[in-house]
Amino acid sequence: MSLIARRIDDLGTENAFTVGAHIARAEEAGIDVIRFNLGEPDFDSADHINREAIRHIEEGNAHYVDPQGLLSFRRAIAEHVAATRGIGVDPDRIVVTPGAKPPIGLAMATYVDPGDEVIYPSPGFPIYESLARYHGAVPRPLHLQEDAGFAFTASDLQPLLSERTKLIILNSPSNPTGAVLSGPGLDEVADLVDRACGPDVRIFSDEVYEHILFDGRRHESIVTRPGMEARTILVSGHSKGFAMTGWRLGWAVLPTPDEAEIFTRLNINTISCVPPFIQEAGRAAYEDPASRDVIDAMVAAFEERRNFFVPALNDIDGIRCATPQGAFYVFPNVERLCRSIGAVEAWESLPAGRKRRTTPAGLLQLFLIYRYGVATVDRHAFGSIGADGQHFLRLSVATGLDRLEEGVRRLRAAASDVEGFAAFVDDRAV
Ligand SMILES: Cc1ncc(COP(=O)(O)O)c(C=O)c1O
Repeated sequence: MSLIARRIDDLGTENAFTVGAHIARAEEAGIDVIRFNLGEPDFDSADHINREAIRHIEEGNAHYVDPQGLLSFRRAIAEHVAATRGIGVDPDRIVVTPGAKPPIGLAMATYVDPGDEVIYPSPGFPIYESLARYHGAVPRPLHLQEDAGFAFTASDLQPLLSERTKLIILNSPSNPTGAVLSGPGLDEVADLVDRACGPDVRIFSDEVYEHILFDGRRHESIVTRPGMEARTILVSGHSKGFAMTGWRLGWAVLPTPDEAEIFTRLNINTISCVPPFIQEAGRAAYEDPASRDVIDAMVAAFEERRNFFVPALNDIDGIRCATPQGAFYVFPNVERLCRSIGAVEAWESLPAGRKRRTTPAGLLQLFLIYRYGVATVDRHAFGSIGADGQHFLRLSVATGLDRLEEGVRRLRAAASDVEGFAAFVDDRAV
C-alpha cells in the first residue's frame, strides 16, 4: 500500500499556473517579467457587477443556497442562452458551478467509466486530458493542424469515433489557438455525430470564450445544430467575458433535468453551492445593459493588440504566427527558432529522464523567462499525447500594448542570441 492513491499519477496540471514558480524565481533575481503566460483578462470586473455583489453581502445574502444554483440566476442564464443560441432552456437543466472548469470533471464523473473513450482537442485546454486520464478514460486527442488554422473537419473527427466513445469535447473559441468553429464546418461535425454516434454519446461544448471574437464574428454553438441539444453539455461562465476569473462563476446546461440532478448531487458532495452574492452579481452581469459596452471595449482592446502582435511576431526570424479569430491568445510556431537557437540540439542531448520531462520549446520557454523576462507557455502544456515534435508557444494578449511592444523587442533579441542560449543551457544544466 502506498500513501498516495495510484490515480494521482494520472492527474496532470495547468502550466499557465505552474510557470508562476519560474516567474517568481526570475523576479527574485531582479528580472522584470512580461506575463504573456496569463490566461485571464487584464481588466477588472465592472462596477455595476461589483456593486451588486457588495449590496448582497451587506444585506446578509451570504448563506448556503440551492446547490443547483439560484433560480433567479439560472433564469438569467436561460435568457442569455436563448438570446445567443436561440434555444429555450428550462432552468431545471442548468447547474451553476464555481467557474467553467468544474463541469469538465463533473462530466467525466457523470458519463465516463474506465475504458470509455474521451475525444478532446489537442492542443487544447490541459484539464481535458488530465481529467480524462484521472477518470480512467482512454484519451483520444483530436490533433489540430496549424495549416488548417487549427480548425478541424468532420473527416478529422471520424477516425477517432469508436464503440467506446463517450464524450467528445469541443472548445470554441479555442484556448490556446484562438480558432473558432462555425458555419458549414460545424454543421458537418454535428451531422457526423448525429449519424455515427449512439444516443448515449455526449458532446461537451466549452464556450467560456463565447464573448471574445474578432473581425465582427458572432459566436456559434453546436447546440443549435439539428439533434445536438439532446446530447450537448453546454458550458460557459463569467471568467473571460466579464473578466471575473477570481470570482469563480460558471454554468452548464445539461441535455436533461436528470443529468442536471447528477451534476447537482456532485456539487452537494464537493462545493455545496456557489456563494449567492456571486450568483447575484453574475445575474446582474447578464441583465444590466451596461455590460455590453464593457465587453465591447475589452474585446476591442484584445483585437487591437492582436492586430499589433501577430504581424510583429511574424517579423521575427524563426517565428510563424497564425491570426487567432477569438479568445486572447496567439499560438506561434517556433520550430525554426528552436532549431536556429540550438534548443532542438540541446534537448536531443539531454539524458532520457530529463528529455521526457521537457521539450525544445520548453527549453526556449525557460530561456525566455530567465534571460529575457518573457513568460510564455509551451505547447506541451496543452495536451501532451502525440505532441512530440510540435514546437509552439502560447502568448496571451491580455497585457497592455506597451508591454506587448517591449515583449516583441525582447523576443527579437532573444531569437538571435545563440550564444546566450548555449550559456543558459550550460549554467542551468536543464
Ligand atoms: C477552454 C477553457 N475552459 C475552461 C476554463 C476554465 O474557466 P474558469 O476559470 O471559469 O473555471 C478555461 C480557463 O482558462 C479555459 O481556457
